Amino acid sequence: MTTNKIFVLFLVFAFIFQAVLLILTYKYPRRTAQTRKLLENVTCTDLLDEWDTDTPVLLIDLDFLEKLNQEECKWNGTAKIKIGIDVTYDVDKGIFNHSPFEVVFYSNNGSKDFLEFHEEPPRIIPKNFERRWVGNFEIPTNTRRFAEFWKRSEFVECLGLEMNRNKSELIDMGMYPFLNGGTLLGWYRECTVIPHTYDMDIAVFKENYKPEYAEKVLNGDSDFGLRRKFGMLEDSLELTLYPYWDQGLSIDLFVIYGWNSSGKNVKIVGKFSKEEMEKYYLYY
Ligand SMILES: *[C@@H]1O[C@H](CO)[C@@H](O)[C@H](O)[C@H]1NC(C)=O
Ligand SMILES: *[C@@H]1O[C@H](CO)[C@@H](O)[C@H](O)[C@H]1NC(C)=O
Ligand SMILES: *[C@@H]1O[C@H](CO)[C@@H](O)[C@H](O)[C@H]1NC(C)=O
Ligand SMILES: *[C@@H]1O[C@H](CO)[C@@H](O)[C@H](O)[C@H]1NC(C)=O
Ligand SMILES: *[C@@H]1O[C@H](CO)[C@@H](O)[C@H](O)[C@H]1NC(C)=O
Repeated sequence: MTTNKIFVLFLVFAFIFQAVLLILTYKYPRRTAQTRKLLENVTCTDLLDEWDTDTPVLLIDLDFLEKLNQEECKWNGTAKIKIGIDVTYDVDKGIFNHSPFEVVFYSNNGSKDFLEFHEEPPRIIPKNFERRWVGNFEIPTNTRRFAEFWKRSEFVECLGLEMNRNKSELIDMGMYPFLNGGTLLGWYRECTVIPHTYDMDIAVFKENYKPEYAEKVLNGDSDFGLRRKFGMLEDSLELTLYPYWDQGLSIDLFVIYGWNSSGKNVKIVGKFSKEEMEKYYLYY
C-alpha cells in the first residue's frame, strides 16, 4: 500500500470514528458511570450542571424539589431523583442506570389538560403548574402546588366525565379541594354525579383554607357567588356557593379540621371518632 492509500484509509476511519462519537454523545447523558461515581453531598445546582441530559426532563421528585427551595441544597446520592421523560422522545431508560436519576415516562397529549405518568397505578396531573428551566431540566416552580397535584394524582378509571383542569379559583388561591359528602358517595358508589342532584359537596383542609376566598367571593371578584356561610373559621365552617353562569347549582364547600380535640393531627376523614363525625358531618 502506498502512503497515500494509508492516509485515505486513516481519514475514512477517523470520519467513521467521529460519527460514532457524535451519535454516542447525542444518545447518552453527558456524564455516565464510567466517568464519575455517584455524587455524594453535592450541591443541587452542581448536580444539575454535572448531569445535564440531552433530552428535556421534568423533575418530579418531591424530596428533591423541596430541597431545591432551601438556601443550601445538597443531595447525598443515596436516593435516586425521579424525573419524567416525554414518552415520544423514545429514550432508553437503561442509559440512566448509572446516573442519579430514576426515569418515569409520561404522555403529553396536546389536546389534554393533564400529563399522564406511566406508573403503577397511573397518575395524571394537571398541566397548569409553572416551570422554569435549568439546562434541560424542567423544574416546577411552585413546589407546593406540584406536590399537592402529585399527592392527588392517582388515576382511577371512572366514567370519563369531562372536567377543566386549566383553571381553578380554589387551586389558584392555594386551596386544594376534594370531593366530599354526597358527591363523594356518588363517585364511590356509581362513579358519577348522582343523577338529578343540583348540588356538589367539596372540602378543603383547614390548613389549606384561605379566609380571603370568602371576601373575594363577596367582593364579586369570583366566578361564584355566596349563597350562605355557616360556622366559624375555627369551627365547622361551610360556604355555599353558586356559579354565576348557572345559579340553580349549589356547591357546598366544607372546611375539614385536621385535628381532634387532643390536638393530634387526624387527616383521614375515616379516622374521626364517632363524636367528631357527628360534629363535623352532622349534615349527612
Ligand atoms: C453527607 O452528608 C451527611 C449529612 O450531612 C453526612 O452524614 C455524610 O457523612 C456526608 N457524606 C460525605 C461523603 O461527606
Ligand atoms: C440522604 O438523603 C435522604 C433523602 O433526603 C435521607 O432520607 C437520608 O437519610 C440521607 N442520608 C444521609 C446519610 O444523610
Ligand atoms: C390525544 O387525545 C385525543 C382526544 O382524547 C385522542 O383522540 C388522541 O388519539 C390522543 N393522541 C395521542 C397521541 O394519544
Ligand atoms: C386547556 O388548555 C389547553 C392548552 O392551553 C387547551 O388546549 C384546552 O382546550 C384547554 N381546555 C379547556 C377545557 O379549557
Ligand atoms: C386524637 O387522635 C389521636 C390519633 O388518631 C388518638 O390517639 C387520640 O385518642 C384522639 N383523641 C381524641 C380525644 O379523640
